Amino acid sequence: MIVRSKRSWELPERQATPEDRFRQRRQLVKALAAGPILAASGLGLAGAAAAATGPYPAKRNPRYTLGRPVTDEKIVTTYNNFFEFGSHKQIWKAAQKLKTRPWTVTVDGMVEKPFTIDADALIRKLPLEERLYRHRCVEAWSIAVPWSGFPLAALVAMARPSAGAKYVAMHGFHDTSVASGQRQSWYPWPYVEGLTIAEATNELAFIATGAYGKEIAKQNGAPLRLAVPWKYGFKSIKSITRFTFTDKRPVSFWEEIAGKEYGFWANVNPEIDHPRWSQATERQLGTGKTVPTLLYNGYGEQVAHLYTDVKGEELFR
Ligand code: MTE
Repeated sequence: MIVRSKRSWELPERQATPEDRFRQRRQLVKALAAGPILAASGLGLAGAAAAATGPYPAKRNPRYTLGRPVTDEKIVTTYNNFFEFGSHKQIWKAAQKLKTRPWTVTVDGMVEKPFTIDADALIRKLPLEERLYRHRCVEAWSIAVPWSGFPLAALVAMARPSAGAKYVAMHGFHDTSVASGQRQSWYPWPYVEGLTIAEATNELAFIATGAYGKEIAKQNGAPLRLAVPWKYGFKSIKSITRFTFTDKRPVSFWEEIAGKEYGFWANVNPEIDHPRWSQATERQLGTGKTVPTLLYNGYGEQVAHLYTDVKGEELFR
Protein backbone atom coordinates (compact mmCIF):
# COMPACT_ATOMS: atom_id res chain seq x y z
CA MET A 1 0.00 0.00 0.00
CA ILE A 2 1.11 3.60 0.16
CA VAL A 3 3.38 2.97 3.11
CA ARG A 4 6.53 1.48 1.68
CA SER A 5 7.56 -1.74 3.34
CA LYS A 6 9.45 -4.89 2.45
CA ARG A 7 8.13 -6.58 -0.67
CA SER A 8 6.64 -10.04 -0.60
CA TRP A 9 9.49 -11.48 -2.60
CA GLU A 10 11.97 -10.63 0.15
CA LEU A 11 10.33 -13.23 2.36
CA PRO A 12 11.39 -16.89 2.18
CA GLU A 13 8.61 -18.91 0.64
CA ARG A 14 7.57 -22.49 1.13
CA GLN A 15 6.32 -24.96 -1.38
CA ALA A 16 2.57 -24.66 -1.80
CA THR A 17 0.41 -27.66 -1.01
CA PRO A 18 -1.38 -29.10 -4.05
CA GLU A 19 -5.15 -28.98 -3.63
CA ASP A 20 -5.67 -32.74 -3.62
CA ARG A 21 -2.98 -33.44 -1.03
CA PHE A 22 -4.38 -30.71 1.14
CA ARG A 23 -7.86 -32.25 0.93
CA GLN A 24 -6.58 -35.73 1.82
CA ARG A 25 -4.68 -34.38 4.79
CA ARG A 26 -7.73 -32.48 5.98
CA GLN A 27 -9.91 -35.60 5.80
CA LEU A 28 -7.31 -37.56 7.71
CA VAL A 29 -7.09 -34.94 10.46
CA LYS A 30 -10.89 -34.88 10.68
CA ALA A 31 -11.08 -38.67 10.94
CA LEU A 32 -8.40 -38.76 13.63
CA ALA A 33 -10.15 -36.02 15.59
CA ALA A 34 -13.53 -37.74 15.45
CA GLY A 35 -12.25 -41.25 16.36
CA PRO A 36 -11.45 -41.05 20.09
CA ILE A 37 -14.50 -38.93 20.88
CA LEU A 38 -16.75 -41.39 19.09
CA ALA A 39 -15.34 -44.23 21.16
CA ALA A 40 -15.42 -42.36 24.48
CA SER A 41 -18.84 -40.74 24.25
CA GLY A 42 -20.89 -43.21 22.26
CA LEU A 43 -22.32 -40.26 20.29
CA GLY A 44 -23.54 -40.71 16.77
CA LEU A 45 -21.11 -39.73 14.00
CA ALA A 46 -22.66 -36.32 13.36
CA GLY A 47 -22.75 -35.43 17.05
CA ALA A 48 -19.19 -36.57 17.58
CA ALA A 49 -17.85 -34.55 14.68
CA ALA A 50 -19.64 -31.44 15.92
CA ALA A 51 -18.33 -31.92 19.46
CA ALA A 52 -14.79 -32.40 18.21
CA THR A 53 -14.53 -29.64 15.67
CA GLY A 54 -17.34 -27.09 15.98
CA PRO A 55 -18.40 -25.86 12.55
CA TYR A 56 -14.98 -26.58 11.00
CA PRO A 57 -13.98 -27.96 8.65
CA ALA A 58 -17.05 -26.87 6.72
CA LYS A 59 -18.12 -28.83 3.69
CA ARG A 60 -16.36 -27.64 0.57
CA ASN A 61 -18.46 -26.03 -2.15
CA PRO A 62 -16.99 -27.61 -5.30
CA ARG A 63 -18.15 -24.72 -7.49
CA TYR A 64 -15.07 -22.65 -6.65
CA THR A 65 -11.82 -24.01 -8.03
CA LEU A 66 -8.44 -22.34 -8.20
CA GLY A 67 -6.36 -23.35 -11.19
CA ARG A 68 -3.31 -22.96 -8.97
CA PRO A 69 -2.11 -24.63 -5.76
CA VAL A 70 -3.57 -23.68 -2.38
CA THR A 71 -0.97 -21.53 -0.64
CA ASP A 72 0.76 -23.08 2.33
CA GLU A 73 -1.04 -22.10 5.54
CA LYS A 74 2.22 -20.97 7.07
CA ILE A 75 2.65 -18.32 4.39
CA VAL A 76 -0.92 -17.07 4.62
CA THR A 77 -0.68 -16.77 8.40
CA THR A 78 2.75 -15.12 8.61
CA TYR A 79 2.76 -12.70 5.67
CA ASN A 80 -0.08 -10.22 6.16
CA ASN A 81 -1.42 -6.76 5.59
CA PHE A 82 -3.21 -5.61 8.73
CA PHE A 83 -2.29 -1.98 9.28
CA GLU A 84 -3.98 -1.90 12.68
CA PHE A 85 -0.92 -3.87 13.84
CA GLY A 86 1.77 -2.19 11.75
CA SER A 87 2.61 -1.16 8.21
CA HIS A 88 4.81 -4.19 7.48
CA LYS A 89 4.04 -7.82 6.71
CA GLN A 90 5.19 -9.48 9.94
CA ILE A 91 2.28 -8.52 12.19
CA TRP A 92 1.07 -12.00 13.04
CA LYS A 93 2.46 -12.04 16.57
CA ALA A 94 1.23 -8.54 17.37
CA ALA A 95 -2.24 -9.49 16.10
CA GLN A 96 -2.56 -12.15 18.83
CA LYS A 97 -3.38 -9.28 21.21
CA LEU A 98 -6.74 -8.85 19.49
CA LYS A 99 -9.46 -10.16 21.78
CA THR A 100 -12.02 -11.80 19.51
CA ARG A 101 -14.34 -13.11 22.27
CA PRO A 102 -16.70 -11.55 23.04
CA TRP A 103 -17.11 -9.79 19.68
CA THR A 104 -20.26 -8.05 18.64
CA VAL A 105 -21.40 -7.25 15.14
CA THR A 106 -23.84 -4.40 14.54
CA VAL A 107 -26.13 -4.25 11.52
CA ASP A 108 -27.67 -0.81 11.12
CA GLY A 109 -28.48 2.10 8.83
CA MET A 110 -31.22 1.66 6.23
CA VAL A 111 -32.52 -1.68 7.47
CA GLU A 112 -35.90 -2.85 8.69
CA LYS A 113 -34.67 -3.26 12.26
CA PRO A 114 -31.06 -2.59 13.35
CA PHE A 115 -29.54 -5.29 15.54
CA THR A 116 -26.36 -6.25 17.35
CA ILE A 117 -25.36 -9.87 17.59
CA ASP A 118 -22.50 -11.83 19.11
CA ALA A 119 -20.17 -13.06 16.34
CA ASP A 120 -20.34 -16.70 17.53
CA ALA A 121 -24.14 -16.54 17.59
CA LEU A 122 -24.16 -15.12 14.07
CA ILE A 123 -21.87 -17.89 12.85
CA ARG A 124 -24.10 -20.52 14.47
CA LYS A 125 -27.15 -19.12 12.68
CA LEU A 126 -25.77 -19.54 9.19
CA PRO A 127 -24.71 -22.72 7.37
CA LEU A 128 -20.98 -22.57 6.74
CA GLU A 129 -19.20 -23.80 3.64
CA GLU A 130 -15.63 -23.92 2.45
CA ARG A 131 -14.53 -22.14 -0.73
CA LEU A 132 -11.17 -22.03 -2.46
CA TYR A 133 -10.53 -18.43 -3.49
CA ARG A 134 -7.68 -16.62 -5.17
CA HIS A 135 -6.62 -13.35 -3.53
CA ARG A 136 -4.74 -10.66 -5.50
CA CYS A 137 -3.21 -7.85 -3.48
CA VAL A 138 -2.89 -4.43 -5.13
CA GLU A 139 0.84 -4.74 -4.34
CA ALA A 140 1.08 -7.48 -7.02
CA TRP A 141 1.39 -10.58 -4.86
CA SER A 142 -1.21 -13.33 -4.66
CA ILE A 143 -2.28 -16.28 -2.57
CA ALA A 144 -4.99 -18.96 -2.75
CA VAL A 145 -6.88 -19.78 0.43
CA PRO A 146 -9.50 -22.31 1.59
CA TRP A 147 -11.85 -19.95 3.44
CA SER A 148 -14.81 -21.17 5.47
CA GLY A 149 -17.77 -18.93 6.06
CA PHE A 150 -21.04 -17.81 4.55
CA PRO A 151 -22.14 -15.70 1.58
CA LEU A 152 -22.46 -12.00 2.44
CA ALA A 153 -25.87 -12.26 0.71
CA ALA A 154 -27.08 -14.30 3.71
CA LEU A 155 -26.26 -11.42 6.06
CA VAL A 156 -27.87 -8.91 3.69
CA ALA A 157 -31.01 -11.07 3.77
CA MET A 158 -30.97 -11.05 7.59
CA ALA A 159 -30.54 -7.25 7.58
CA ARG A 160 -33.54 -6.61 5.29
CA PRO A 161 -32.23 -3.35 3.80
CA SER A 162 -34.82 -0.83 2.66
CA ALA A 163 -35.34 -0.26 -1.06
CA GLY A 164 -33.37 2.99 -0.88
CA ALA A 165 -30.18 1.35 0.44
CA LYS A 166 -27.55 1.25 -2.30
CA TYR A 167 -24.37 0.37 -0.43
CA VAL A 168 -23.14 -1.54 2.57
CA ALA A 169 -20.29 0.03 4.51
CA MET A 170 -18.16 -2.25 6.70
CA HIS A 171 -16.12 -1.04 9.66
CA GLY A 172 -13.19 -2.68 11.40
CA PHE A 173 -12.49 -2.42 15.12
CA HIS A 174 -10.89 0.56 16.83
CA ASP A 175 -8.91 -0.16 19.96
CA THR A 176 -5.63 1.63 20.49
CA SER A 177 -4.93 -0.49 23.57
CA VAL A 178 -4.37 -3.59 21.42
CA ALA A 179 -3.57 -2.26 17.95
CA SER A 180 -0.35 -0.26 17.88
CA GLY A 181 -1.04 0.91 14.32
CA GLN A 182 -4.15 2.66 15.56
CA ARG A 183 -2.03 4.85 17.80
CA GLN A 184 -0.76 6.41 14.56
CA SER A 185 -3.45 9.02 14.33
CA TRP A 186 -2.70 10.13 10.76
CA TYR A 187 -4.60 7.05 9.57
CA PRO A 188 -8.39 7.50 9.37
CA TRP A 189 -9.32 4.69 11.78
CA PRO A 190 -11.28 2.52 11.84
CA TYR A 191 -10.61 0.65 8.58
CA VAL A 192 -13.67 1.08 6.38
CA GLU A 193 -14.71 -0.59 3.17
CA GLY A 194 -17.85 -0.65 1.09
CA LEU A 195 -19.67 -2.49 -1.66
CA THR A 196 -22.79 -1.79 -3.68
CA ILE A 197 -25.75 -3.94 -2.70
CA ALA A 198 -25.44 -5.68 -6.08
CA GLU A 199 -21.81 -6.56 -5.28
CA ALA A 200 -22.62 -7.59 -1.71
CA THR A 201 -25.29 -9.98 -2.93
CA ASN A 202 -23.19 -11.39 -5.77
CA GLU A 203 -22.55 -15.08 -5.16
CA LEU A 204 -18.79 -14.51 -4.75
CA ALA A 205 -18.96 -11.98 -1.90
CA PHE A 206 -18.11 -14.09 1.14
CA ILE A 207 -17.65 -13.58 4.85
CA ALA A 208 -14.77 -15.77 6.01
CA THR A 209 -14.91 -17.00 9.59
CA GLY A 210 -12.50 -19.88 9.10
CA ALA A 211 -9.52 -20.89 6.98
CA TYR A 212 -7.63 -24.14 6.43
CA GLY A 213 -10.41 -26.11 8.06
CA LYS A 214 -10.49 -24.22 11.35
CA GLU A 215 -11.36 -20.90 12.88
CA ILE A 216 -9.73 -18.03 11.01
CA ALA A 217 -6.45 -16.76 12.51
CA LYS A 218 -6.44 -13.34 14.12
CA GLN A 219 -3.89 -12.02 11.64
CA ASN A 220 -6.21 -13.01 8.78
CA GLY A 221 -9.11 -11.02 10.24
CA ALA A 222 -10.82 -13.00 13.01
CA PRO A 223 -13.58 -13.38 13.83
CA LEU A 224 -14.96 -12.37 10.45
CA ARG A 225 -13.52 -10.78 7.33
CA LEU A 226 -14.70 -10.11 3.84
CA ALA A 227 -13.43 -12.06 0.82
CA VAL A 228 -14.21 -10.42 -2.54
CA PRO A 229 -11.72 -12.19 -4.80
CA TRP A 230 -12.37 -10.21 -7.99
CA LYS A 231 -11.19 -7.02 -6.29
CA TYR A 232 -7.78 -5.96 -5.01
CA GLY A 233 -7.12 -7.35 -1.57
CA PHE A 234 -7.56 -4.08 0.31
CA LYS A 235 -11.32 -4.34 -0.28
CA SER A 236 -11.41 -7.53 1.82
CA ILE A 237 -11.74 -5.84 5.20
CA LYS A 238 -10.71 -7.80 8.29
CA SER A 239 -12.19 -8.07 11.77
CA ILE A 240 -15.51 -6.44 10.93
CA THR A 241 -17.60 -4.94 13.72
CA ARG A 242 -20.32 -3.17 11.78
CA PHE A 243 -22.35 -3.41 8.57
CA THR A 244 -24.14 -0.14 7.78
CA PHE A 245 -26.62 0.03 4.91
CA THR A 246 -26.71 3.43 3.27
CA ASP A 247 -27.64 5.40 0.15
CA LYS A 248 -24.26 7.20 0.19
CA ARG A 249 -21.17 5.65 -1.28
CA PRO A 250 -18.78 4.94 1.60
CA VAL A 251 -15.30 6.44 1.41
CA SER A 252 -12.97 3.62 2.22
CA PHE A 253 -9.85 3.76 4.36
CA TRP A 254 -7.35 3.72 1.48
CA GLU A 255 -9.48 5.95 -0.70
CA GLU A 256 -9.40 8.57 2.02
CA ILE A 257 -5.62 8.31 2.35
CA ALA A 258 -4.77 8.23 -1.37
CA GLY A 259 -7.86 8.37 -3.57
CA LYS A 260 -5.85 8.61 -6.79
CA GLU A 261 -4.22 5.26 -6.06
CA TYR A 262 -6.97 3.28 -4.33
CA GLY A 263 -10.53 3.82 -5.46
CA PHE A 264 -13.95 2.57 -4.47
CA TRP A 265 -14.28 -0.13 -7.14
CA ALA A 266 -10.76 -1.59 -7.18
CA ASN A 267 -11.58 -4.42 -9.58
CA VAL A 268 -8.51 -6.38 -10.65
CA ASN A 269 -7.33 -5.45 -14.14
CA PRO A 270 -3.87 -6.26 -15.54
CA GLU A 271 -4.15 -3.52 -18.16
CA ILE A 272 -4.62 -0.61 -15.79
CA ASP A 273 -1.42 0.09 -13.91
CA HIS A 274 -1.28 1.40 -10.41
CA PRO A 275 0.18 4.94 -10.66
CA ARG A 276 3.44 3.61 -9.22
CA TRP A 277 3.74 0.06 -10.60
CA SER A 278 2.44 -2.38 -13.20
CA GLN A 279 -0.52 -4.65 -12.48
CA ALA A 280 0.22 -6.93 -15.46
CA THR A 281 1.65 -9.79 -13.41
CA GLU A 282 1.62 -11.09 -9.87
CA ARG A 283 4.04 -12.92 -7.66
CA GLN A 284 2.37 -16.14 -6.47
CA LEU A 285 3.52 -16.62 -2.90
CA GLY A 286 4.64 -20.17 -2.31
CA THR A 287 5.12 -21.23 -5.93
CA GLY A 288 8.10 -19.07 -6.80
CA LYS A 289 6.26 -18.06 -9.97
CA THR A 290 5.32 -14.72 -11.46
CA VAL A 291 2.23 -15.16 -13.61
CA PRO A 292 -0.05 -12.92 -15.70
CA THR A 293 -2.82 -11.27 -13.73
CA LEU A 294 -6.34 -11.90 -15.05
CA LEU A 295 -9.17 -9.42 -15.49
CA TYR A 296 -11.37 -9.59 -12.39
CA ASN A 297 -8.75 -11.98 -11.05
CA GLY A 298 -10.30 -14.64 -13.29
CA TYR A 299 -13.83 -14.22 -11.89
CA GLY A 300 -15.29 -12.25 -14.82
CA GLU A 301 -17.96 -14.86 -15.50
CA GLN A 302 -19.51 -14.20 -12.08
CA VAL A 303 -19.04 -10.43 -11.83
CA ALA A 304 -18.43 -8.65 -15.17
CA HIS A 305 -22.17 -8.01 -15.58
CA LEU A 306 -22.16 -5.89 -12.41
CA TYR A 307 -20.26 -3.15 -14.23
CA THR A 308 -21.78 -2.97 -17.70
CA ASP A 309 -24.02 -0.04 -16.73
CA VAL A 310 -21.48 1.82 -14.60
CA LYS A 311 -20.29 4.70 -16.76
CA GLY A 312 -17.58 7.32 -16.23
CA GLU A 313 -16.05 5.58 -13.22
CA GLU A 314 -12.56 4.30 -12.51
CA LEU A 315 -13.56 0.69 -12.11
CA PHE A 316 -10.06 -0.72 -11.85
CA ARG A 317 -8.27 1.34 -9.23
N1 MTE B 1 -8.41 -5.14 6.78
C1 MTE B 1 -8.05 -4.37 7.81
N2 MTE B 1 -8.93 -4.20 8.81
N3 MTE B 1 -6.83 -3.78 7.88
C2 MTE B 1 -5.92 -3.92 6.85
O1 MTE B 1 -4.82 -3.34 6.93
N4 MTE B 1 -5.43 -4.91 4.66
C3 MTE B 1 -6.04 -5.33 3.40
C4 MTE B 1 -7.06 -6.46 3.62
N5 MTE B 1 -7.92 -6.17 4.73
C5 MTE B 1 -6.28 -4.72 5.73
C6 MTE B 1 -7.55 -5.35 5.74
C7 MTE B 1 -5.06 -5.76 2.42
S1 MTE B 1 -4.15 -4.52 1.68
C8 MTE B 1 -4.92 -7.05 2.03
S2 MTE B 1 -3.92 -7.50 0.73
C9 MTE B 1 -5.58 -8.13 2.76
O2 MTE B 1 -6.34 -7.66 3.86
C10 MTE B 1 -4.53 -9.09 3.28
O3 MTE B 1 -5.14 -10.21 3.84
P1 MTE B 1 -4.24 -11.38 4.47
O4 MTE B 1 -3.25 -10.73 5.38
O5 MTE B 1 -5.20 -12.28 5.17
O6 MTE B 1 -3.55 -12.03 3.29
